[in-house]
Amino acid sequence: MPQNYALWLPKRGAAFEVGPAPYTPPGPGQVVVRVRAVAVNPVDGIPGLAYRVILPWLTFPAVIGSDVAGEVVEVGPGETRLRPGDRVLGMATGLECNRNLAAEGAFQHYAVLMNTMVSPIPDDLEFEQAAVLPLTLSTAATGLCQRDHLGLPLPTISPSDRAETVLVWGGSTSVGSNAIQLARGAGFRVVTTCSPHNFDYVRSLGAAEAVDYHGSDAAARVMKAVGDSPLAGTLAIGNGSVPKSLAVAARATGAKRIASAQPALMTRLQMLTRRRHGVHVSAIWGGTLKDNEVGPGIYVDYLPAALKAKVFRAAPEAVVVGEGLDHIPVALDRLKKGVSAQKLVVKV
Ligand SMILES: NC(=O)c1ccc[n+]([C@@H]2O[C@H](COP(=O)([O-])OP(=O)(O)OC[C@H]3O[C@@H](n4cnc5c(N)ncnc54)[C@H](OP(=O)(O)O)[C@@H]3O)[C@@H](O)[C@H]2O)c1
Repeated sequence: MPQNYALWLPKRGAAFEVGPAPYTPPGPGQVVVRVRAVAVNPVDGIPGLAYRVILPWLTFPAVIGSDVAGEVVEVGPGETRLRPGDRVLGMATGLECNRNLAAEGAFQHYAVLMNTMVSPIPDDLEFEQAAVLPLTLSTAATGLCQRDHLGLPLPTISPSDRAETVLVWGGSTSVGSNAIQLARGAGFRVVTTCSPHNFDYVRSLGAAEAVDYHGSDAAARVMKAVGDSPLAGTLAIGNGSVPKSLAVAARATGAKRIASAQPALMTRLQMLTRRRHGVHVSAIWGGTLKDNEVGPGIYVDYLPAALKAKVFRAAPEAVVVGEGLDHIPVALDRLKKGVSAQKLVVKV
């Protein structure tokens, strides 16, 4: 068996440590991936106290991380779609409350992944760029397609245009970059918000209209960009996005539904003093799609073909912070300073 190494989190709030880890063979419905690149997400760098609130079930020592790109080295019994040697990306689900397993975290050399959360990638897509996708793609797909959120159709590689608009508040975030493309892949017109220096970027992903989210009149300008087109739903990403999206959804025609990417507690706090005007607001947990039709609908049925046909881009741009598990904490420190239309990645 190969020797595995992991970036261990010994306990809540402690410093990370690189050390040996068991190699865990795949069970039914699983594959083992030799991790070649990981990306970091805000949830990976949250302080000890926030861990207690956001991930109260997590047991220690833990191996965290969600975004993996690498090669399949072993497949579980009965696996026919994926084979050893396949170049793939996948979402590691070890942090999910019904998994909570170090072997299934991303930040290690050999990670055990669910086969339905793994997509083969084209030869010309580098591992570092592929690693930008999993968690934020999952979060966008959960918000857009899961029935308890916006419940929109899954994307296809040759969609027919629909008359409705999806509002993606925060289109230049990693979650937003995926959401714009998935909504377009389902045929919707997309209106989004970002800073003006990212207007061309979000348009290149398929947004019809880009609006600057800064300023007290942002919701009014978004409303104007939505125009007469009924809303199919709104994905609210970024600080303060829920109240502003609410102002738009309350006045627009169409579906009065907002899916928020902010944590449930934050979403509830933002709603406390606001009248909802009949708008349904739900908080996304980006891993829930693994247990319903949305996970395989994206990772098995859509993404491999969409990447190959180049109708879906691994976006935003990967910025490689370093090589080796010990560079992951460096990437997390850098993420806390903020990024714009970029994803921080470490080669493993
Ligand atoms: N619920 C879940 O399961 C889940 C999963 C993953 C992420 N998230 C959350 O989703 C959010 C986005 O995560 P990410 O990794 O995609 O972020 P990210 O890429 O690191 O976000 C950076 C971007 O945020 C944009 N931004 C900053 N403040 C904003 C605001 N007030 N409104 C709209 N955009 C704003 C900036 O846009 P400009 O540079 O254009 O100004 C920048 O491009 C975070 O809050 C994260 O915690 C939730």
